[in-house]
Amino acid sequence: MSDTYSGRGNADRSITNPRPASTLTPAPGSGEAAMTGSAFLIGDSMTGGYGTGPDILHDCTIAVEPGEIAVIVGPNGAGKSTAMKAVFGMLNLRKGSVRLAGKDITDLSPQDRVRAGMGFVPQTNNIFTSMTVEENLEMGAFIREDDISGTMAQVYDLFPILKEKRRQPAGELSGGQRQQVAVGRALMTQPKVLMLDEPTAGVSPIVMDELFDRIIEVARTGLPVLMVEQNARQALEIADKGYVLVQGSNAHTGTGQDLLNDPEVRQSFLGG
Ligand SMILES: Nc1ncnc2c1ncn2[C@@H]1O[C@H](COP(=O)(O)OP(=O)(O)OP(=O)(O)O)[C@@H](O)[C@H]1O
Ligand SMILES: [Mg+2]
Repeated sequence: MSDTYSGRGNADRSITNPRPASTLTPAPGSGEAAMTGSAFLIGDSMTGGYGTGPDILHDCTIAVEPGEIAVIVGPNGAGKSTAMKAVFGMLNLRKGSVRLAGKDITDLSPQDRVRAGMGFVPQTNNIFTSMTVEENLEMGAFIREDDISGTMAQVYDLFPILKEKRRQPAGELSGGQRQQVAVGRALMTQPKVLMLDEPTAGVSPIVMDELFDRIIEVARTGLPVLMVEQNARQALEIADKGYVLVQGSNAHTGTGQDLLNDPEVRQSFLGG
């Protein structure tokens, strides 16, 4: 399966993939994504809400390309998490579709989307607090039947503190360390795309910077990252592409720099 995803703009896999035998990121292959000519992962014109409730998303589109970090920002309640959940298959769309590497996956369950290559870190309840760090990582690899030790070693290389604390219940860790567990858990499936909903929620500015550095490191291995962030300015600074969502709709889209320079975005969403 892992030999079908080359041509994804893999900038530098040496950072998180130092050992030739290790496989945090997909191995080179035939270039499935390249054939589609469209976004690697796209939630396209999504309209829908929870259960039979009102629509929360209105014709909302979010996407990430190979090698990119795409960031979604917007006010509380704008529908950022809902958009992520829709892409992950936790919402029935009334309109629109989700495509991954050119395949329509709109009808797949979340579990099947994980099998198809999605790694998702939800905004809340994203670790098992009573289990150890290492058990969390093992749980993350639930769909795998092969040897996971190489991937685990890579996660520990990326987040050395987790190796130190691997026998500790994850609930005893600091907020930033828990987020590392959550991201590490998602990486254990060797995803083709990583989706993060507010990975820096509730952490100090220093820890936020560290987490962003690690996320950049992951993205540089060629793994596309689609993330929601409350720290809009800092996130847009590291974003190749940014989306401002307002009331479930796309309000502004552009490169991170475009959005940082846009007077209206600055005024309304970045505090001037
Ligand atoms: N499980 C749910 N059932 C019903 N409505 C929900 C559910 N989760 C969220 N909503 C509603 O959907 C809307 C968008 O919420 P969502 O959590 O997607 O916003 P958000 O942009 O992620 O906000 P935040 O910045 O606070 O995380 C809100 O009106 C919210 O009340
Ligand atoms: Mg949210």
